[in-house]
Amino acid sequence: ALVETRVPLQHWPQAFFAVSNNVHRPGLLLRDLECRDAGLAALFARGPDAVLSELERSGLRGRGGAGFTTALKWRFCRETGDPQKVVVCNADEGEPGTFKDRVLLTAYADLVIEGMTLCAAIVGAREGFLYLRGEYRYLVEHLEAVLQRRRELGLLGAGIGAGIGAGSGAGSGAGRGLGTDGARPFDFDIQIHLGAGAYICGEESALIESLEGKRGVTRKRPPYPVTAGYLERPTVVNNVETFLAAARIAEHGGYWFRSEGTDQSAGTKILSVSGDCARPGVYEFPFGTAVRDVLAACGAEAVQAVQVSGAAGTTLKADEFDRLLAFEDLPTAGSFMVFGEGRDLLEMVRNFAAFFAHESCGFCTPCRVGGVLLRELVEKVATGQASAHELDELRHIGAVMRRASHCGLGHTAPNPVLQTLDKFPHIYRQRLKSADYTPAFDLDAAL
Ligand code: NAI
Repeated sequence: ALVETRVPLQHWPQAFFAVSNNVHRPGLLLRDLECRDAGLAALFARGPDAVLSELERSGLRGRGGAGFTTALKWRFCRETGDPQKVVVCNADEGEPGTFKDRVLLTAYADLVIEGMTLCAAIVGAREGFLYLRGEYRYLVEHLEAVLQRRRELGLLGAGIGAGIGAGSGAGSGAGRGLGTDGARPFDFDIQIHLGAGAYICGEESALIESLEGKRGVTRKRPPYPVTAGYLERPTVVNNVETFLAAARIAEHGGYWFRSEGTDQSAGTKILSVSGDCARPGVYEFPFGTAVRDVLAACGAEAVQAVQVSGAAGTTLKADEFDRLLAFEDLPTAGSFMVFGEGRDLLEMVRNFAAFFAHESCGFCTPCRVGGVLLRELVEKVATGQASAHELDELRHIGAVMRRASHCGLGHTAPNPVLQTLDKFPHIYRQRLKSADYTPAFDLDAAL
């Protein structure tokens, strides 16, 4: 049954975006999803080099949003001399409007863990972490049970693969990563680490700080985690969906994966679709799908705006619905929020501004102070107390945050304000104390 998502605005975002676990239109990744550990079987039959080649052939790019080539990341890590490599699954799914990782971990945890195990075999890691969003605590018992079952099956822990295919019995490579024959058992285990509710810990370097028991503050990169990550050890950090995709690619091959998507964005993308539509839930679409087609599939009509890729993402107005979900046009970590014509978009902006002010880690001044100023100014607009120059002030503060913040959170936090000022200026203007506003602050020049 579908879960009703139209709820009063004051309950945003938790209620508005807390939608169903329904999985719609199973496509490339989510088809035939019984986990047979066929990816691991392929690893033992063909060897880690062959599996890495398939991953290269697939063109898989990271599903956390940035789209770095997965095979390249794994190769960089593998090529470091350090024997103490680490694999981390980023399940700190905190972006407003995103819930697909929660569904993947609920329904397909085996495939995600299989993907992590393949990564460990390829890079030569013995230790793994699943960094789980604090609010997903209720999944721990289920995930621990999956890990334990896999240990009992010899698919996790010491001597993985000792009983699989051609490699059984060839134990000399245990713990050292596999050789090119692919036949050697290896050691790899995974611990679950629970976050404590900080959005910033979804950023990989803050996540690593948190794993180390420290406050979640982002590190300067480079060095990237592949060379100096957890405890300065080479660390692969990938999103839940990326590991799942890697397991499927190991099973079916790179060409299979490439058969959908675009040149630069191979395969499919799993979306969390929420908001004003008849069928919210988790969808899988080939990369290159138009926003308009997603709206049709989820039963959205009379749409005013779509927020793609979360609070920090892109706000689209109706004349942009032909744009494509793909790294070359609209990159997305998976959040797709629909705002019907009846919605007051300033409420969205107000909500996101409050979210970012709350989630700033406080480390740098532009984000810590700027976020609060943006929230207060938006509040002032919403309550009809702002005058025209305060809209310039919003642009000015947004520009400072973009330029001067320490990390991506501060760089992107003003996005909802800046984009709606440009695309939906009436939501601000109609509330001003006086209506004689002409923008004076040149945002483009400031950036
Ligand atoms: P990034 O482009 O700096 O890095 C992406 C990945 O590639 C990282 O794992 C990084 O370590 C790796 N990488 C990049 N260059 C590398 C190099 N030269 N050598 C080795 N590894 C390299 O992007 P970042 O800052 O990690 O993430 C920003 C993205 O996160 C944005 O595009 C945004 O869409 C997304 N995002 C996702 C959220 C979510 O909930 N999934 C929330 C907020 C933002």
